[in-house]
Amino acid sequence: DIRGFILDLDGVISNTSVLHSRAWQQIAHKVETPWHPKLSEELKGVGRMDSLNLILRRGRRRVKYSLEDKVRLTEEKNKLYIELVNKMTPDDILPGIKKFLDSLKANHYPIALASASRNAPLVLEKLQLTDYFDQIVDPAKLRKGKPDPEIFATGAKLLGLLPEECIGIEDSAVGITAINAAGETSIGIGARHVLRDAHINFADTRDLTLENIKKRL
Ligand code: G6P
Ligand code: MG
Repeated sequence: DIRGFILDLDGVISNTSVLHSRAWQQIAHKVETPWHPKLSEELKGVGRMDSLNLILRRGRRRVKYSLEDKVRLTEEKNKLYIELVNKMTPDDILPGIKKFLDSLKANHYPIALASASRNAPLVLEKLQLTDYFDQIVDPAKLRKGKPDPEIFATGAKLLGLLPEECIGIEDSAVGITAINAAGETSIGIGARHVLRDAHINFADTRDLTLENIKKRL
């Protein structure tokens, strides 16, 4: 029986994956990595330093960046990202999500957030959604990022539930892998060919309703 929900943030609740991507494009330009549309997909769900490493690996420059340089670049990206986040309002909640969260509350399902982003609390605040979340996993306390199951396993634990009692919702391939590895039911939001391993797939956040989920369980 499903008793709780664990949600990703960027690309599920808000369109912030586009903002992450926009900020990374500026960093990519700086380190002379030609931007490839594939990068936007590859960076989804991936933490800050790992994202930078992916960008550097795709670059033509064979310069070795020191850890200090890399930290500086991630800080620069974060500054650009926060500038974009600060302009956000509740209008930036993806279609259908507010209604979905309301229906979870009405049905007394506890909700946890499993985002790799250290900016997640700020984004939730901008969207005025903080109060919906019973638990927020702190990514700074985790040993491994997605696709490791740790973040979703921690979400279940914080809700006081068994993994098999939880549904995880994700827009990234690494996130779906993490949910499945945690032993939870996975819902992928987005293109089926990207989210191949999701137990349930919805093309759009508008399709994410309790009714649709129950039909597919
Ligand atoms: C999420 C996003 C990634 C982002 C990561 C870290 O997983 O999908 O694009 O890189 O969080 O975010 P942060 O805000 O801490 O840099
Ligand atoms: Mg995401």
